[in-house]
Amino acid sequence: MVFTFFLYFCTIKQNNIGMTEFKDLVQLRRSHRKFTEQEIDADDLKLILRAALMAPTSKSQRAWQFVVVEDKMDLEKLADAKNMGSQFLKGAPIAIVVLGDPMQNDCWVEDGSIAAISMQYQAEELGLGTCWIQMRGRGLDDGTTADTVIRGILDIPENMCCLCILALGHWADERKPQAEDRLKWENVHLNKY
Ligand SMILES: Cc1cc2nc3c(=O)[nH]c(=O)nc-3n(C[C@H](O)[C@H](O)[C@H](O)COP(=O)(O)O)c2cc1C
Repeated sequence: MVFTFFLYFCTIKQNNIGMTEFKDLVQLRRSHRKFTEQEIDADDLKLILRAALMAPTSKSQRAWQFVVVEDKMDLEKLADAKNMGSQFLKGAPIAIVVLGDPMQNDCWVEDGSIAAISMQYQAEELGLGTCWIQMRGRGLDDGTTADTVIRGILDIPENMCCLCILALGHWADERKPQAEDRLKWENVHLNKY
C-alpha cells in the first residue's frame, strides 16, 4: 500500500526531464502546517519571491510589499496576531508577510492574492511546504485587528495592510495529492449559469 502510493507519487511528481508539470503541481499543492527545522536555501527563497514579483497586478502597479521574517521571536508573535488558525506559524522557519495599501491600490487584495498563490506554487515546485494564513479582516477576541499587531511587530507603516502571511518551510506533514474524483465540476457552468 505504502509502496503503491510512493510509486504513484513519483510518477506524478516529475516528468522525464525532472520538472514538475503545472497540471501535477496544482494537484500536489496542499497546505502544510508542520515543518522541520531545516533552513530554506537562499536561492529557493529568492525564486519564491521572484514568483511574487513577476505576478500580474492591476494597472501594472506592483504596489505590494513583502516582509520575509526569519526571527524566531517575531514568528511567535506573528502567530498570536489573530485568535485562531495561525498558531502553527510558531513552528515555521520562515514567514512571508504580504502587504498592500488599500488607499493606493483598489485591487490590493487581488494583487496580493495572486502574488501569494504564485509563491505557493513556486514553493511546491521546489518541494517546500506553504500555508496561507488569513490576516485581512482577522484579529483578537478583544477587538484588536491583526493589522495592528503585525504593524507593531514588523515596523510596518500605517497605510499598509496585511492580506495574509505565508508559512514556508520543509514540510513535516505528508499530504495526499488532491483527489481527482472530488473536484466540484458541478460548479463549472457552460455558457449560462
Ligand atoms: C483565503 C484563504 C485563507 C486561509 N486562511 C487560513 C488560515 O488562517 N489558517 C490556516 O491554517 N489555513 C488557511 N488557509 C488554508 C486553507 O485552509 C486550505 O487551503 C484549505 O483547507 C484547502 O486545503 P489545501 O490547501 O491543503 O488544498 C486559507 C486559505 C485561503 C485561500
